[in-house]
Amino acid sequence: NVFNCPLNPPDALFALAGRYKDDDSAHKVDMSIGAYRTNEAKPWILPVVHKTEELLVNDPSVTHEYLPILGNPEFRKVAAKLILGDKVDLNTVATVQTLSGTGANHMAAVFLRRYTPWGKKSNTIYVSDPTWANHHTIFSYVELDIKKYPYWDAKTKALDFEGMYSTLKKASAGDIVLLHACAHNPTGVDPTREQWEKLASLIKEKELFPFFDCAYQGFASGDLDNDAWAVRMFIDRKIDMLVCQSFAKNMGLYGERAGALHIVLSDATPETKAAIESQLATQSRAEISNPPAFGARIATKILTTPSLFDEWRRDIKTMAERILDMRAELKGELVRLGTPGNWDHLTSQIGMFSFTGLDPKQVDRLVTEFHIYLAANGRISMAGLNKNNVKYVAKSIDTVVRQ
Ligand code: LMR
Repeated sequence: NVFNCPLNPPDALFALAGRYKDDDSAHKVDMSIGAYRTNEAKPWILPVVHKTEELLVNDPSVTHEYLPILGNPEFRKVAAKLILGDKVDLNTVATVQTLSGTGANHMAAVFLRRYTPWGKKSNTIYVSDPTWANHHTIFSYVELDIKKYPYWDAKTKALDFEGMYSTLKKASAGDIVLLHACAHNPTGVDPTREQWEKLASLIKEKELFPFFDCAYQGFASGDLDNDAWAVRMFIDRKIDMLVCQSFAKNMGLYGERAGALHIVLSDATPETKAAIESQLATQSRAEISNPPAFGARIATKILTTPSLFDEWRRDIKTMAERILDMRAELKGELVRLGTPGNWDHLTSQIGMFSFTGLDPKQVDRLVTEFHIYLAANGRISMAGLNKNNVKYVAKSIDTVVRQ
């Protein structure tokens, strides 16, 4: 090839999901990508989303015209309110509609490459070890310098808070710190409120810039406000920050790419908001011209119609509770089988994922021998479990753990 470009390996997670699709075993189980599934292992269009789609399709004022470059104005407001709450004057928050959470991460990363906080010339972003694999891809793609802070302690199967705190203590002013707002991906382990408070104090004192990624609001506790607690506490403390927001998981709008990036500065004015948004608009125009309309329209309708909003909250609870049931059932089965090891973390972890602690060899056997598809780091998407396959999955885990 004239470019002399090498062959990149396929994305590990999407390749895994592809292998699951191609597998014709009757026993196959998909616990790869974090996407909600029903008890019948089927994708779920949230009933509230289905209802809203019908309303939109029959609404003569809905067209397929371009959105403004920054996105749907109403969506930008209500999306900001959903995550930031009443803590901040939205007239000072810079918001751009993005291609879901990934687009928000990318937009934020490009912006931070061009503009650094407080004139500090940092190019460094600290990410949890481990983090969502795509964080590495997104940040290295725009040549941010990625450093890791300890997060998962494999021995205790819990948060290594001391490691995280002492590493961030050594960071330099202006460095960016990626934080998962709730339901950490891939570990399912979040800091306690007390630990969050300590992190907020450290970040403020050291002039670090928090980069919140919020892809699972509603999935950690089943309650939207509760899951926004850490973000809002940072705002209360007047810490400058940005938030990447996705509606892929909590509205099940995976392929519609509805999300937003919010930049929240403690001393912001309508003028600073305008300046930042003008930069985001130029970026967005250069890359996608303007964002896709349909997903954001669904989200806006749900967020602005009280009866639909209530129904959405019930749908979120349905998803969160089925996942909780599956955590309990998987752990119960492993305990019943006497599978070596302690499995308490399966029920203490939260959100869509569990970090099982299975090693790469055990994972490989689960995939190749048992047709159970999970990420190489041992992460399982709990939504792939159901009443029909949980016994099979537990028995298979039991087999690979023993041999
Ligand atoms: C996941 O981690 O499974 C999801 O966030 C899907 C993705 O884009 O990787």
